[in-house]
Amino acid sequence: MNTARITQILAPDAAGIQTAAALIAAGQQVAFPTETVYGLGADARNASAVAGIYAAKGRPSFNPLIVHLARAEQAAALVDWPETAALLARHFWPGPLTMVLPLKDGHGICSLVTAGLDTLAVRVPAHPTAAALLRACDAPLAAPSANPSGRISATTPEHVRAGLDGRIAGILADGPCPVGVESTIVGITGTTCTQLRAGGIARGAIEEVLGAPLTDPTDASITAPGQLTSHYAPGAAVRLNAETARAGEVMLGFGPKEATLNLSPTGDLTEAAANLFAHLHLLDAMGKPIAVAPIPEQGLGRAINDRLRRAAAPRTGD
Ligand code: TXA
Ligand code: MG
Repeated sequence: MNTARITQILAPDAAGIQTAAALIAAGQQVAFPTETVYGLGADARNASAVAGIYAAKGRPSFNPLIVHLARAEQAAALVDWPETAALLARHFWPGPLTMVLPLKDGHGICSLVTAGLDTLAVRVPAHPTAAALLRACDAPLAAPSANPSGRISATTPEHVRAGLDGRIAGILADGPCPVGVESTIVGITGTTCTQLRAGGIARGAIEEVLGAPLTDPTDASITAPGQLTSHYAPGAAVRLNAETARAGEVMLGFGPKEATLNLSPTGDLTEAAANLFAHLHLLDAMGKPIAVAPIPEQGLGRAINDRLRRAAAPRTGD
């Protein structure tokens, strides 16, 4: 599977979507845009197709993947579907929320997707090109972020190509991803909802719909690779909460401050999330240590700070 392939760049029109769906039906891996980041998709029922995702990304171990669906009703056929899940689906799907629920018998999802767990992460993406691809495939698509393992997530087709060219069959190329950070992940067991990863939907918005606070994972046994300490890592060193750049550093700014690149000169967290990974890619290409301005720990700022802390963490060496 490691022989170099030609990676086709596909337009997000009917012909491109048909080609992408045919490649996926043939067991290949195709990158596609979602509202959060680009995903690397394969048929979640086909074990060798899913193994190809791990091979292309160079993932060191089998971490569970999110299954993407065209419609919320399809989730109820794969996982237990309590009223809490239906409620969150009504409010946030299609959109950047992933729910982790117990698998149902006869689900048909291969165990490489779940990494052998008895739960499954499901999400219905809002991006029109993702939705069109899911309808054309008529299959559940396993899709992690479309970046080499441990590196910065891809929010443009160019990022995908830079990381995975020659390792995947195609890229459905449809410009930058509007949200820019990955989905919020909520685990549901019984009536308890736990936030497993901060992401594109603010914690407060979910708590408002639930009418109750989300709990936090207490236990080291929670298998969320998003929780690997070093993740989303640029090649260069990252220094957080920097008021100014030191000699030799490039600066990632936030708010009205001088910086090499600014996430949002007006201090808008939505704009900052959308720019986060693209700016990190650009600064990384400059080959210098990166100083990052403080970002408020509220709303989407929590997801941004989570990704920045991982980018700054000592490297785990994958
Ligand atoms: O926005 C997103 O979620 C993007 C787009 C492509 O949809 N996908 C994404 O996938 O970020 P990935 O593989 O980079 O992250 C998947 C996360 C991991 O942190 C993993 O631990 C968690 O989902 N996950 C998946 N299945 C799980 C399960 N059964 N239990 C707990 N966590 C799970
Ligand atoms: Mg990822």
